[in-house]
Amino acid sequence: MKVMINHLGRIVLSIILPLALLMSCGERYPQGKALYEAQCAWCHMSDGTGLEGIYPSLVDREDLRKQLWRIPCAIRYGVYDSFRIGGDTFSVVMMGFPDLTDAEVSNISNYIAMSFLQLQEGPYNERIVADMLKRCRSREDTFRLLKSKLQSQ
Ligand code: HEC
Repeated sequence: MKVMINHLGRIVLSIILPLALLMSCGERYPQGKALYEAQCAWCHMSDGTGLEGIYPSLVDREDLRKQLWRIPCAIRYGVYDSFRIGGDTFSVVMMGFPDLTDAEVSNISNYIAMSFLQLQEGPYNERIVADMLKRCRSREDTFRLLKSKLQSQ
């Protein structure tokens, strides 16, 4: 019996463990996963599928795969595409997370890229994220505008 358990143990270690690691490749970004669970999952859900009609799914999004910069931009400055300042209607918007560092943004983005967008490697690092964030000037401006509006209320 003991021999069998040992044997079984070895099988678990040699086959199942690497397989589990491979399948949960997002585990390579434990900080990204933890931050995603804490900050993002209550809207986009743990499995990234969102809530239909309210919070968009992040799973298998070809648009995000093609424009990888949109993920760091969304995290830092939020998404205000449907926001109308001065208008009387605005749909649900995503607030940004300006307190997360470039490194943290990079880890969350890599977690999303590997777990939801099926990329084999995390395409982000701190330097790439800093570079990508330069692309979202308009979001940065909207963010500033909204913040100053809120503060002046
Ligand atoms: C309060 C709910 C909420 C939280 C929390 C939230 N999001 Fe979102 N997110 C949204 C909504 C709503 C949209 C769509 C906004 C729109 O299109 O106007 C969105 C859009 C996005 C997009 C698509 C951006 C694009 O360019 O189309 C990404 C990527 C994203 N969120 C990632 C995240 C990440 C990562 C976190 C955590 C750091 C997060 N979200 C936290 C509600 C949320």
